[in-house]
Amino acid sequence: MITIDRERPFDGAAIEALLDSAFGPERVTKSSYALRENNHPVPSLSFVARQDERLVGTIRFWPIQVQDMLSGRRLDALLLGPLAIAPDLQGKGTGGQLMARGVAAANAEGHQRILLVGDIGYYSKFGFEPVLPRYITLPGGKDARRLLVRQPATISSLPTVGKLVVPAPVPAIHMPVPLVA
Ligand SMILES: CC(C)(COP(=O)(O)OP(=O)(O)OC[C@H]1O[C@@H](n2cnc3c(N)ncnc32)[C@H](O)[C@@H]1OP(=O)(O)O)[C@@H](O)C(=O)NCCC(=O)NCCS
Repeated sequence: MITIDRERPFDGAAIEALLDSAFGPERVTKSSYALRENNHPVPSLSFVARQDERLVGTIRFWPIQVQDMLSGRRLDALLLGPLAIAPDLQGKGTGGQLMARGVAAANAEGHQRILLVGDIGYYSKFGFEPVLPRYITLPGGKDARRLLVRQPATISSLPTVGKLVVPAPVPAIHMPVPLVA
């Protein structure tokens, strides 16, 4: 039986091994990793899937900001990822369970805006939609077409002119600044 649980401090090594098996060692060259350098996942939003004592899934959320390059104004957001399931257990709904648990917990903590770099074919069922690539720049300028966002209709659309996704300067749990049109 697979259970979803909060990540524990001693899970780090097993998570790194799982990420290597799911994504391959070149995973650290992805643009989303630049947003995780000198940053820390939010502990209360880090979940794992376990099959007995074996760690078989992981999801994390990182504090980031989206900066308007014209005004310099920054909007708080979360970066979701990595999401990974052990290759031999993929396709059994565990990724969906981690997504549901993580997104619900993020919303419950007041985080309205969640971004990720991934396949829309998988993430659309969790309410994610593409961000227009010409409006958003990721560190290194890569992966813009795979940048997805989930935000309630009650806050203004994320893309305006010239935005840059950057790590949050203070990696802490914080309430988002409501986006004003
Ligand atoms: C992507 C991943 C997290 C999904 O977790 P999972 O437990 O295997 O997925 P679930 O059982 O919740 O969902 C399975 C469904 O998602 C689909 N799916 C899986 N990966 C997909 C992708 N990249 N694009 C579109 N659909 C995808 C499967 O085809 C399946 O569809 P079905 O329900 O119609 O049969 C997992 O397969 C994984 O770790 N893959 C390798 C790492 C990775 O790609 N991570 C995500 C970055 S985009």
